[in-house]
Amino acid sequence: MSILVCGGAGYIGSHTVRRLIETGEQVIIADNLSTGHRAAINPVVKFYECDIRDKSALKKIFAENSIEAVFHFAAYIEAGESVIKPLKYFNNNVCGMQILLEAMVESDVDKIIFSSSAAVYGEPKNIPIDESDATIPVNPYGDSKLIMEMMMRRVGAANGVRYVSLRYFNASGAIEDGSLGEDHHPETHLIPLILQVPLGKRDHITVFGTDYPTPDGTCIRDYIHVLDLASAHICALNYLRDGGSSDAFNLGSGHGFSVKEIIDAAEKVVGQKIKTELGARRPGDPARLIASGEKAHKILNWSAQFDDVEKIIATAWKWHSIHPRGYDD
Ligand code: UFG
Repeated sequence: MSILVCGGAGYIGSHTVRRLIETGEQVIIADNLSTGHRAAINPVVKFYECDIRDKSALKKIFAENSIEAVFHFAAYIEAGESVIKPLKYFNNNVCGMQILLEAMVESDVDKIIFSSSAAVYGEPKNIPIDESDATIPVNPYGDSKLIMEMMMRRVGAANGVRYVSLRYFNASGAIEDGSLGEDHHPETHLIPLILQVPLGKRDHITVFGTDYPTPDGTCIRDYIHVLDLASAHICALNYLRDGGSSDAFNLGSGHGFSVKEIIDAAEKVVGQKIKTELGARRPGDPARLIASGEKAHKILNWSAQFDDVEKIIATAWKWHSIHPRGYDD
């Protein structure tokens, strides 16, 4: 049987496909290539260019292949953009989940591993954040991921689909050989934007907000390597195979770094000063997001292997140095 990876041409999806193949799984990718890249698609994999909101296309995939489980990465991901364009997020993310679940139920596919987000917590009351903490998103992106979790829970109870919801903190880095990496258009994420400065693609990095209630006034995030996210998906698959019940898990390192600390770490990795300007806050940004990874550790038997932020940035730097124009190179 195969694993259907929706969004397998994207950043986290493509790294997870690589890990799945390494562990001997059969993989099929569905991706509409709206943000994913044809060049990121593993050539050994059967690829369907389709949108998950197209139910007949999904049902064709389920009819033509024996699918054991779905990995669902196919969603829009930018918190800032979602504040300006909420309907874009509700359409692709929420409606996409609706159609995917309908197609799964109608095709008797009963396992799904879902890319959720730390954004479901909003501005957390406790640090580190525990899965049982309140989920009060502060932007439509976080709303969409929380609604998608609720849909899986209700459909799970009614229709027997089991799910694992993986709440990623800040995905970062790239596969060590530099063959896959992060390539968003436009790029909005901190680490790739910082690295564009030494690459000569950007004059400076702007720090979004210096008046947050944090020690240096800049936002704190928990940066987790993309390959650690990928291996968590394999753990989650095995958990469901072993009969595990539906649940949500944080995926983070448990360590927080401020925007300024990430810039300092990047300067060490690239060996040069990175021009920085201080700017206004970006709407929709919580001050601090740090995961407790205890539950994933205990129940999924998962832990992060990349425990050093400079090493994480070094893998990103390798990818961007080899591919300064992303997958166009
Ligand atoms: N930042 C800057 N300057 C920039 C870009 C970002 O200061 O040019 C700051 C942001 O304000 C934020 C931090 O760097 O404080 C990280 O920003 P990113 O855009 O890299 O990541 P986010 O934390 O906004 O969001 C990411 C994912 C979301 C996910 C979230 C979970 O994009 O999908 O992590 O923590 F929900």
